[in-house]
This record gives sequence, C-alpha cells and structure tokens, in this order.
Amino acid sequence: MSGDARVIRIGILGSGKGSNCAAILDACAAGKIAGKVVLVLSDVADAFILERARQKGIEARFIGPSQFKTKLEPEREEQVARQLTEAGVELVVLAGYMRVVKAPLLRAFPGRIINIHPSLLPSFPGLRAWEQALRYGVRITGVTVHFVDEGVDSGPIILQSAVPVFPNDTPESLHARIQVTEHQLYPEAVRLFAAGKLRVAGRTVKVLE
Ligand code: GAR
Repeated sequence: MSGDARVIRIGILGSGKGSNCAAILDACAAGKIAGKVVLVLSDVADAFILERARQKGIEARFIGPSQFKTKLEPEREEQVARQLTEAGVELVVLAGYMRVVKAPLLRAFPGRIINIHPSLLPSFPGLRAWEQALRYGVRITGVTVHFVDEGVDSGPIILQSAVPVFPNDTPESLHARIQVTEHQLYPEAVRLFAAGKLRVAGRTVKVLE
C-alpha cells in the first residue's frame, strides 16, 4: 500500500478470545487492508481480545458490566459510541461481540457497523449458531459477514462462505472449522469496506470488483 493511500480508522468490539480481531490486525499489519485498528472495546473485563490488542500496542478498554444479558444500558452504549467517535473511528467491527447493538451506536455509525456470524444467515441467528446447525442436522453451514441493523443478525449480507458439517463433528470441531473460514472472510470484508467497494441498496450489497 502506498504511503498516501487513504487508511480508514477501525474500532473493534468483542466479548471473547478475539481470534477474528487478531486476523484483522494481522491483515492490516500485512498491508492487505487500507485500515488501522485504533481502539478495541470489550464488555467483558478479562476477555482475551483486550490482551491481544494490548500486545500489539493498540488501545484496549473495558466498558461494562451491564445489568442486561443481551444489550448494554443506553448510557453505556452512548459511552461506547463516544469513545469510538473520539478515536476518529470510521468503521465499527463486531468480532464476537455478544450484545445486540441498539440506537446509540446505530445512530452514531449509520451504515458503518459490520458483524460476523458463524452460520449461513438467515439460518441460525442468535447464540451458538454452530450448535444450532449440528442439532438441526444440516450438511452445510458457514460464515456470514453483514451490515448491522436494528435486528438480530438481520442486516444486509456482505460476504458468505460455506463450511461442511461432518457426521462425527462435535460443537467444538465444527466451530473450529468455521473459525478457519471466519479468519479469511472477515479481513476480506473489512478490506472491501476500507477500499470503498461496497454499495448497499435495500437488502442487497453490491461488491464493486
Ligand atoms: C466467532 O465464531 C463469531 O462468529 C461468533 O463468536 C465467535 C468469536 O470468536 N459471534 C457470534 O456468535 C455473534 N452472534 P473470536 O472471539 O475468537 O473472534
């Protein structure tokens, strides 16, 4: 990437081990994404995603906890939005963030929040999608990267990739296989966003290349 290429500022929200965050950090460091991760926030104090970010010299903060399981209090979410805005963030990447995003963030970053989900949406939205897929008995599941709207895992789809389910799969083995695909698909989606290659028309996302 040339020195004068425009580099977008990225904020990442996550609640867990942060392997998708790591994949995006690596892709930025390798020059594959015209972007720079400037802030990582977590609603879980000891989430490994914070540790990973700090190891790479990236500002990482805990904001929480919440009295709700599935969302933040509006004031907490305002705080998240403010910190991202103050850091000059242009794209918010949800990477294993286990809260439903509400009005404060959606209003602050319209069309600028993306999420990764471990299934082929609209199948198996919500929690532990790999377990839902196993229980249902599908032969193929996968990964979806999508824009975030006010619903749960319901926004316009940017990229999807299929992952096979094998007869002897356990929840752990299937999730591990899904994660290998996630670590390729998410950096690619962020790359496309950063390069200005995504156009949303209703439910459809056009990829300009
Ligand atoms: C990933 O598999 C991601 O798709 C999933 O959580 C995991 C986080 O892993 N997200 C959801 O289920 C959101 N509903 P990571 O912390 O290693 O990136």
